[in-house]
Amino acid sequence: MTEEAYPPITTIAIIGGTGKEGKGLAYRWAKAGYHILIGSRQPEKAQAAAEEICLLAQEPLHVEGSHNPEAAERADLVVVTVPYAAHRDTMTMLVPYVQGKVVVDVTVPLVPPKVSRVQMPQAGSAAQEAQAILGEGAWVVDAFQNISHEHLLHDEPVECDVLVCGGNKAAREIVLGLVEKTGLVGWDAGPIENAVVVEGLTSVLIGINKRYGVQSSGIRITGVPRG
Ligand SMILES: NC(=O)c1ccc[n+]([C@@H]2O[C@H](COP(=O)([O-])OP(=O)(O)OC[C@H]3O[C@@H](n4cnc5c(N)ncnc54)[C@H](OP(=O)(O)O)[C@@H]3O)[C@@H](O)[C@H]2O)c1
Repeated sequence: MTEEAYPPITTIAIIGGTGKEGKGLAYRWAKAGYHILIGSRQPEKAQAAAEEICLLAQEPLHVEGSHNPEAAERADLVVVTVPYAAHRDTMTMLVPYVQGKVVVDVTVPLVPPKVSRVQMPQAGSAAQEAQAILGEGAWVVDAFQNISHEHLLHDEPVECDVLVCGGNKAAREIVLGLVEKTGLVGWDAGPIENAVVVEGLTSVLIGINKRYGVQSSGIRITGVPRG
């Protein structure tokens, strides 16, 4: 797959987009001009979330609610924001709808109650599990694991960078473009094997939040010119 060969992205589905992180990403991308399909197991819940986002933005946005499979089927690119406990079933459901597409996996393999302890799955990461389930016809890219939803549902600049990793460089480039559209700074963090660090960092940040009494600590890459 090459970046040029990928069709232009106009429609983004967010599976589990009724949740905290999904709504935040939907808000940012809708404001950047994308057509957003909020996916849910319950279409009416998805529609309510879509209306909530439009109300918050106070401007006309192209956001609609949909059943998860329909959203995935209609989209040019699919983003998954579900709790880890629902990750395997969600990815399995998505198999027929995401072939030939980039799948942005935002899932962090948290295992409650010890969510501030890194507990990676045997495959190495949620992203590697997703790639194994979806097969080689879909390109899984990890991104946004370290961005708290608290940062996304408003228009302020975010003091946290986005690490992007996945097995296909062109797919990573596509996702880096989408990161830029959210107003955040993204970095190519390399192959999918590096997802262990990106996903694991979230537990470190959750622990820092608790120990320092803050809501949403983040990370910044230094030593590389920005812009
Ligand atoms: N929250 C954050 O700040 C944050 C930051 C970085 C990464 N993440 C990661 O992003 C993912 C989503 O986080 P979140 O806080 O947005 O989660 P959430 O609000 O708890 O859940 C997101 C959505 O997942 C769907 N869902 C829940 N249980 C499900 C199940 N058993 N099967 C299918 N769908 C199910 C629900 O949608 P429906 O009921 O509408 O189907 C729900 O609205 C997690 O993996 C989390 O670790 C979160």
